Amino acid sequence: MRRKLVAGNWKMYGGLASNRALLLDLLPVLGSNGAADSAVCVPYPYLAQVQELLKGTALAWGAQNMSEQAQGAYTGEVSATMLNEFGCRYVLVGHSERRALYGENNQTVAAKFLAATKAGLTPILCLGETLEQREAGITEHVVSAQLDAVTQAAGLAAFGNAVIAYEPVWAIGTGRTATPEQAQDVHAFIRSRIAQVDSSLAQKLRILYGGSVKPQNAAELFAKADIDGGLIGGASLVAKDFLAICAAAAS
Ligand code: PGA
Repeated sequence: MRRKLVAGNWKMYGGLASNRALLLDLLPVLGSNGAADSAVCVPYPYLAQVQELLKGTALAWGAQNMSEQAQGAYTGEVSATMLNEFGCRYVLVGHSERRALYGENNQTVAAKFLAATKAGLTPILCLGETLEQREAGITEHVVSAQLDAVTQAAGLAAFGNAVIAYEPVWAIGTGRTATPEQAQDVHAFIRSRIAQVDSSLAQKLRILYGGSVKPQNAAELFAKADIDGGLIGGASLVAKDFLAICAAAAS
């Protein structure tokens, strides 16, 4: 039985005062061990604040991106070692906004994934097709190519300490959620690709769904056999919504 994980992706939102208020609302429920895991992935400047507020609690934290480089003359970049210094457990890699807006391709994403696992971080690898690709019937092809680039660079064993998030691009921030069946189909497909090589790893691997998850649709999505929790954007900024989604994962 896989333990569910609900991870918030704050994106480029937040501020010292609002972060504090949000976390203080989450902690009474998420601060101690429950039936599911939870985490928040926050902008870099707030990692120190989040570490201070969350250390010693069951609510984990992480970053939304990292460099594939260890150190050097890479202006504006942040390394895995730096994330470790701030107690991060997770780091998102290959979020569709990074792929679409910042030119990250499958090779860059694979290099980041590899650097994260080498540093002992748990990458949350984001995969997903655009609406155009779905309508063209090439969802499985796109997701396979995204996954294969990473397994080739890092090896399948690296997924022993990783999480996958399936996030159809057309569902992110649009209010248009994939139906539980649509999501389940792709989750099952991803798991079966991994099971072709290592079935016990495939059984243990957590595959989250992301894209307009809300309190109203979380339970139905999480009830599906291969959906092991969610990566939550907009709703992770509202304490009562994030708590309701975490409750759905825990039930
Ligand atoms: P959303 O974002 O929940 O606001 O759709 C999900 C994500 O981008 O991870």
